[in-house]
Amino acid sequence: MNRLTIIGNGMLGRELAAAAAAGQDVTVYDLPDFDITDRRQLRQAVEAADCIVNCAAYTNVDQAERERELCAAVNAAAPGMLGELAAATGKYVIHISTDFVFGDLTDAPQRETDPPHPLSVYGATKLEGERRLLASGCNCGIIRVEWSYGAYGGNFISKILGLAKKLPELKVVADQTGSPTWTGDMARAILDFLGTRPAGVYHFAAAGYATRFEVAAAIIRHFGLKTRLISCSSSEFPAPAARPHNSKFDCTAIDKILSFRRPAWQDALERFLDRIS
Ligand SMILES: NC(=O)c1ccc[n+]([C@@H]2O[C@H](COP(=O)([O-])OP(=O)(O)OC[C@H]3O[C@@H](n4cnc5c(N)ncnc54)[C@H](OP(=O)(O)O)[C@@H]3O)[C@@H](O)[C@H]2O)c1
Repeated sequence: MNRLTIIGNGMLGRELAAAAAAGQDVTVYDLPDFDITDRRQLRQAVEAADCIVNCAAYTNVDQAERERELCAAVNAAAPGMLGELAAATGKYVIHISTDFVFGDLTDAPQRETDPPHPLSVYGATKLEGERRLLASGCNCGIIRVEWSYGAYGGNFISKILGLAKKLPELKVVADQTGSPTWTGDMARAILDFLGTRPAGVYHFAAAGYATRFEVAAAIIRHFGLKTRLISCSSSEFPAPAARPHNSKFDCTAIDKILSFRRPAWQDALERFLDRIS
């Protein structure tokens, strides 16, 4: 049986562990027992596996602006170390990255070959993590994901739903465009990668694009809520870290690898909302 190490027991790591459990011998590592920045612990986790999926990250985008060193240790140095250890032992690594490596150099859906331009410490450290992992020479696939939601963590969908149930009106930004993507679909893509072991960087997201405002409207419609949505711009929600306006991915490359058709964001979201209602 394939021995699979999942690092990071967060929103995606937990979803992946649940999806993988049937066909794999899965071990999940996370804080506080396991720290990906600890070389000795990381070596043990790599040695115990045939494949390693790194879902661990410092993900608090705003706090990262104040905790640059910790963020860089987890998001940049640790993937590099993981790559060195995997290269030395011939293990296959899947590393999860983000749309935040981009920063509005274009309005078009972004391809893997487009120049990155991170706008935040989080984005810059995630980009550096990709670079260090690739430079290690290990056999690895990097999957950039975006606008994640799922059952195992707080996210934009759960936040909007919670607020909409309480408030008569809600302001939502209409100048950020991307593709809300269910972690269950991300887990399926990762399992496909474990089967075929492609190398290089790939973009994965649900099909189609929407603004944050349009996503919020879909949630409110689904539950028949009375909340009035007011569209606004990101400048009305000043935050320590800048967010990209354009999070649209071109997923042509990964479509040639996946065993399934990426669902439309509306369909995946409807199914998720049905499950939690
Ligand atoms: N969520 C999104 O919208 C989104 C969008 C684009 C890309 N991504 C990427 O998707 C991947 C999965 O993120 P997620 O959504 O599952 O976020 P998450 O729920 O925050 O999960 C990240 C996990 O990493 C763990 N972690 C942090 N520092 C660690 C360390 N030093 N050693 C070991 N584990 C550590 C966290 O543990 P603690 O909770 O104990 O800190 C948490 O369980 C990440 O690479 C992220 O950058 C996420």
